[in-house]
Amino acid sequence: MSAPVVVLVGPMGVGKSTVGELLAARLGTAFRDSDADIVAAQGRPISDIFVDQGETHFRELERAAVRAALAEHTGVLALGGGAVLDASTRELLTGLPVVYLTMEVGEAVKRSGLNTARPLLAVNPRQQWKLLMEARRHHYTDVARVVVPTDDRTPEAVVEAVLDAL
Ligand code: S3P
Repeated sequence: MSAPVVVLVGPMGVGKSTVGELLAARLGTAFRDSDADIVAAQGRPISDIFVDQGETHFRELERAAVRAALAEHTGVLALGGGAVLDASTRELLTGLPVVYLTMEVGEAVKRSGLNTARPLLAVNPRQQWKLLMEARRHHYTDVARVVVPTDDRTPEAVVEAVLDAL
């Protein structure tokens, strides 16, 4: 069975897509992103799916998109920040080279202000962030083979840290 060479997990805005693209180029492989797969398949932005069909529906789409990507993709794969909420997804990640990218709350608030396309951090980002992380931190930690902090690091430096850590 084929599997991704690296799977990136972690909260929204931590840089999974940016780091993933660079890492894939560095490894001479392809990059894939479960969010981008969902947007392409649905033909609409994630924020619209959340508003019109709700988070539960989005999570079903996400579960299927992640399952397909894990089965098909052999390069670097980035998962949406909430993908680890699903127990069957966490099970599929068992034994894979999963990298958990982390950042502190201050950095998260700073970065979320730069991106209005993320529905879960649109209002009161600091408090939302803390709640999200309380619910998710242990899942990220459970699935991760290595943990790489991104605060005060350029994306290129994060790529080096990931390569060192794996
Ligand atoms: C989400 C993270 C987003 C996207 C959606 C929900 C989350 O992905 O899947 O807005 O629940 O944390 P990124 O982590 O790629 O921003």
